[in-house]
Amino acid sequence: MKLPGAPHVAYRGHELFIEGCALNALARQFGTPLYVYSRSAMLESLAGYQRALAGRDHLICYAMKANSNLAVLQTFAQAGCGFDIVSGGELERVLAAGGDPSRVVFSGVGKTAAEMCQALATGVSCFNVESESELTLLSEVAQGMGRQARISLRVNPDVDPKTHPYISTGLKGNKFGVAHDRAAEIYRHAAALPGLEVVGIDCHIGSQITEIGPYLDALDRVLDLVEAVEAQGIKLHHLDLGGGLGITYTDEQPPEAETLVRSLLARIDARSHGHRKILFEPGRSLVGNAGVLLASVIYLKPGAEKNFCIVDAAMNDLMRPAMYQAWMGMAACTLRDTPPVLMDVVGPVCESGDWLGRDRSLAVQPGDAIAVLSAGAYGMSMASNYNSRGRAAEVMVSGNEAWLIRERETPAELFRGERLLPTR
Ligand code: LLP
Repeated sequence: MKLPGAPHVAYRGHELFIEGCALNALARQFGTPLYVYSRSAMLESLAGYQRALAGRDHLICYAMKANSNLAVLQTFAQAGCGFDIVSGGELERVLAAGGDPSRVVFSGVGKTAAEMCQALATGVSCFNVESESELTLLSEVAQGMGRQARISLRVNPDVDPKTHPYISTGLKGNKFGVAHDRAAEIYRHAAALPGLEVVGIDCHIGSQITEIGPYLDALDRVLDLVEAVEAQGIKLHHLDLGGGLGITYTDEQPPEAETLVRSLLARIDARSHGHRKILFEPGRSLVGNAGVLLASVIYLKPGAEKNFCIVDAAMNDLMRPAMYQAWMGMAACTLRDTPPVLMDVVGPVCESGDWLGRDRSLAVQPGDAIAVLSAGAYGMSMASNYNSRGRAAEVMVSGNEAWLIRERETPAELFRGERLLPTR
C-alpha cells in the first residue's frame, strides 16, 4: 500500500518501509526522533527537471535551505546540480560537500559585506541582487577586491502564487526583489557600476505552488522586462525562474516538474527567448517527499475534549505545523488490528502550539514508531534547540542500505559555546 505523496514509503505486510528498509528497524538502530531520506526519491525528482531541460543550456540550482545536510548536497552535486544559497554558512556547506562554487547562485535580501567577500573569493557564479543598496555595496566590495561581481536582479513580478501568505514572495507587499516597474532603471544603474557585470535576471514567486498559471504570468512579466532591458543595450544571458513547485502533502495535485518546465520552455521559445541559459532553483520539490520524520509514541493521554498522542518529536524538530498550520501526513510504522482513535499528535515542548498533527486517526501503542510524511524539505533545516532539545539524527537510505548522515546532537554540544560568569 502506497501513501499519498511518498512514492518510496509503503507498507509491506504490517510494516512500513522506505525503499528496502523497515522504518521500525531504523528507529531501533538509530533511535528517534530520526529523519530518514530516500536517495532514489531525491534523484527521481531531480530527473524530471533534467529530462525537460535536456539539450538546453541550463543549470539546476538546488535551493539548499530546504535540506542542507552534506550528504544531500553531495547527492545533488554528483548528479550535476548547482546550488541556490542564501548565506555564507550555506556556501561553506556546499564546499564541504564537494559542490562546485562556479555553479552557485547567491540569493537573499540581506547579504552582508563579509558574505559578499567570501562569495567573490570562492567564485560563485552569480549574485541574485534584491535592492539598489545591495547593488551599491556589492560593487564597492568587488572593486575593493579588484573584481567584478556577476549579477542578476531579482524582479518582483507582483503575481499571486496562490499559496500560504508566509511563503508568497512575489507580491508587491513582500520584502523580496525589486519592483517590476523600476527594474529597467535599476538595471541601467547596475550596468554603470564599475564593480558589477550584469549577466541575468531572476524571479521567485513563492513556495508550495500547485498551479502552472502563476509561473506563466510571472514568466511573461520577466520576458517583457528582458526585452525592455536589452533595448537599453544591456545583455541578459540567463533567465533564472526560481523554485517553488509544490508537492503532495495530502490531496494537492501539483504538476510534475517535467510538465511545469516544458510549459515554461514552450512559452520562452514562443517569445523567441530560447537561446538564453535557463536556471531553476527548486528546493521542496526535490527533497520534500523523499523524507520522513520518525517519532516514538511516549504516552497516550485521553482527554475531556481531545485525545493526545505524545511523541518524542516536537515543534523544534519539525516547525511546519506550528509555524504554518501545515498538514503533514502520518502513518504508523506497524499496522495494528486495534480500532484507530482520533488524536492530536503532540510533542513534549512546553507550548500549546507544539503539535505535529491534529485530529489524526491512528492505531498506536506506547513504544510504537510513527512516520511523519513529506518531511524531507524544511524539516531538519528549520529545526531548533528549543527546550534544550538536541536536534534529531539523519539517515540516508538507498535500497536496503542505510547510512547515518548526521549524528544526534548531545546536550553537551548544545551549551559548548556558553560560559559561566567568573565567581568571586
Ligand atoms: N529560490 C528562492 C529565492 C527562495 O526564496 C526559495 C524558497 C527557493 C528558491 C526554493 O523554493 P521551493 O522550491 O523550496 O519552494 N519554510 C517554508 C518554505 C520557505 C521557502 C522560502 N524560499 C515551508 O516550510 O513551507
